[in-house]
Amino acid sequence: MAISPILLLAILSLIYGNGVLPIEATHHVYRNLQTLSSDSSDQPYRTAYHFQPRKNWINDPNGPMRYKGLYHLFYQYNPKGAVWGNIVWAHSISNDLVNWTPLDHAIYPSQPSDINGCWSGSATILPGGKPAILYTGINPNKHQVQNLAIPKNMSDPLLREWVKSPKNPLMAPTSSNNINSSSFRDPTTAWLGKDGYWRVLIGSKIHTRGMAILYKSKNFVNWVQAKQPLHSAEGTGMWECPDFYPVLDNKGPSTIGLDTSVNGDNVRHVLKVSLDDTKHDHYLIGTYDIAKDIFTPDNGFEDSQTVLRYDYGKYYASKTIFEDGKNRRVLLGWVNESSSVPDDIKKGWAGIHVSFDSSIS
Ligand code: FRU
Repeated sequence: MAISPILLLAILSLIYGNGVLPIEATHHVYRNLQTLSSDSSDQPYRTAYHFQPRKNWINDPNGPMRYKGLYHLFYQYNPKGAVWGNIVWAHSISNDLVNWTPLDHAIYPSQPSDINGCWSGSATILPGGKPAILYTGINPNKHQVQNLAIPKNMSDPLLREWVKSPKNPLMAPTSSNNINSSSFRDPTTAWLGKDGYWRVLIGSKIHTRGMAILYKSKNFVNWVQAKQPLHSAEGTGMWECPDFYPVLDNKGPSTIGLDTSVNGDNVRHVLKVSLDDTKHDHYLIGTYDIAKDIFTPDNGFEDSQTVLRYDYGKYYASKTIFEDGKNRRVLLGWVNESSSVPDDIKKGWAGIHVSFDSSIS
């Protein structure tokens, strides 16, 4: 007798209480549902406008970029089911950030440094227009490490194939660097200082102190951890998916975005982190002294009265890109709707992305 997915879920729920197995990263892990595919034609809740793949689970937007006139969006995706698991970087392209065409998966487990998962990360456009992706891999010991991938063929505007650095992992927890191996993930887009060093942030925590660990590199391959995190805050828990970028300080609303490496007199910086404990995207505005790599925020994350959120509904793991030529910064984030797991299984998908554009005020 064939068992329907919903019946299976009900049975599992009876066995496992609320049906939830242990938590890995921040996502509930339903091992028996990770490969349960459904293709229901009854789809009243699919969005007409926002980004979502045809089926299955998505979470964070990864490495958004514009390359040779095309927008590229990668995303955390379960190719086999409508709950979190089997995570790869799926890949879609668009001319207008509204209509998307799916391509083959761009990054999937294939090296020891990502054999247990290819988690979130960001793209940086290097001088000469060459995209480079830094992403978190889960290694054979289930440790979180940071890896590099570059396009196989720069003349392909679709950037279909990605080559992983043989030097991966480029950043890893060791016995001497005091980094928590299960809380070390989600590299930002890198920015370049006048001193010729690239900088990148990795989300982390030590006990309950959330932090954005800073790494520096001259060649994008050899990364050295800075003595201090760029910022940290006691009691905030794990910082996922940090984002750090300059904004114009013109004492009023501005629609103009700035390249991630810009700094100077009329510039302030935004530090956004996705707080694993609250599942909200919070941000601080402050001043960034790049010579000393010190970020001084106006208010702290600890101050729950004044701390700002991007959105007061469900909006998480967001990331921005600067669009050269359009002088705008575009924000993309994951909305994990509110469906129950049985509903997600039934409809065959979970998660959408919602984006905002700084040039529309
Ligand atoms: C945020 C997150 C990231 C991690 C990814 C795994 O939703 O937990 O910290 O890299 O999802 O899919």
